[in-house]
Amino acid sequence: MKIEKTITDSRVDKDVLAYTVGDDPILDMELVRWDCMGTAAHVTMLSEMKGLKRPVVTPAEASRVRKALAAVVEASEKGNFEIRTDDQDVHMAVERVLTEKLGDLGKKIHTGRSRNDQVAVDVRLHMKDSILALELELADLAQALCSFGAKAGAIPMVGRTHLQPAMPSTVEMWATGHAEMILDQSYNTAAAYKLADLNPLGSAAGYGVPLPLNRRRTTELLGFARTLHNSFGASMARGECEASLLSALAQIMCVLSRLAEDLIIFSMPEFGYFKLPREFCTGSSIMPQKFNPDVLELVRGKTAQVIGFQTSALTLLHAMPGGYNRDLQDAKMLYMKGLDITRTTIRIMAKMVEGLEVLSDVCRAAFTPGVFATDVALRKVAAGVAWRDAYHEVRDNLDALNDEDPDAAVKCKKHEGTCAGINLKLYEKRIASLRASAKKRMDELYAKCAALLK
Ligand code: ARG
Repeated sequence: MKIEKTITDSRVDKDVLAYTVGDDPILDMELVRWDCMGTAAHVTMLSEMKGLKRPVVTPAEASRVRKALAAVVEASEKGNFEIRTDDQDVHMAVERVLTEKLGDLGKKIHTGRSRNDQVAVDVRLHMKDSILALELELADLAQALCSFGAKAGAIPMVGRTHLQPAMPSTVEMWATGHAEMILDQSYNTAAAYKLADLNPLGSAAGYGVPLPLNRRRTTELLGFARTLHNSFGASMARGECEASLLSALAQIMCVLSRLAEDLIIFSMPEFGYFKLPREFCTGSSIMPQKFNPDVLELVRGKTAQVIGFQTSALTLLHAMPGGYNRDLQDAKMLYMKGLDITRTTIRIMAKMVEGLEVLSDVCRAAFTPGVFATDVALRKVAAGVAWRDAYHEVRDNLDALNDEDPDAAVKCKKHEGTCAGINLKLYEKRIASLRASAKKRMDELYAKCAALLK
């Protein structure tokens, strides 16, 4: 049996160590900045703690720790920081480096804290930052769809129900309809953000510590909206905010997947309304004529993965006893993978939409006479015929619908949100306000981080 030594466990089987550490040395690299920020807040608070015979750390020592933490962040940004298997995770790696640099002072930073509240804080800071970046990306995609829609303007496009030709519509309505779905996802991300914006630090292993910790102080230093009051509750909240964000991510992916599916259908030769950018299609090793929409198919496939991650997160939690359990480590992995897939997909879809072409003649030629049936029946209503009688008159004479003009038809639909009633300004406003609010919160978070790590 091969025995490994770590900071906490002097004898651990090598395979057990690898099994329990899992992908943390890779995944936790994303947490370095946030781990250092959390530690800086914790140590600052320790240095201000009242009512102790001897301070755990003095204000001058706290300042040395903060400087050393800032150097760790800088090193990690330059690729000069590593998490070793025997560190287990970012928390122990940072403690090792600080102890190497600061000696006994480094050994004090973990006073009154557990990795349980530490990782919970790291993930929440990472999540706040990531949700804001995600919201900016959602705004970019909505913008790309709106610009595409505005450019296509009133180009008629057959509106479909059951995928069958239904009523006159426009390319603009199609594109801005998808944009609105994307923008509405910000309600889901806002809910996840609200849950992430709570501070678990000071709950320690889940039951507090016999030290006069000032939890409000770290909440303020880290810029959280409030403290998670109950220590046990704070430890149980780990995993819940990951699951909540994964649910938002799964919904976002679902919206993207439906956009992808529409694009696959409307760009296939049998429809041909849209042409996908050539650089977004791949060929076949045997069929020379092929340009396949692989990107869009993978969006569907990755949606299945993210839905799976959400299900995994909830399944992980549903039978877990209260208090910390190591399975929670996997919630971090599910969250990080789901986030990465979703953000990459949003970005690639925005590029795809930017390069999309409309074939307006094909769109017009697709108007079969039946598409005008409802409009013609409503013209009869305007002339005084009761709706149900008009409906039957048109249904009995479907052959008489041949002379209708798609462009004229879409101009007649003017009420709010229909073909000639799309208010592009509304989207511009929503996109601008989503961007402004995400940027403002991001600036606040980065200012808190910079104030701690200097
Ligand atoms: N890497 C661990 C995780 O993500 C850190 C917490 C370890 N805590 C413990 N009690 N073993 O959960």
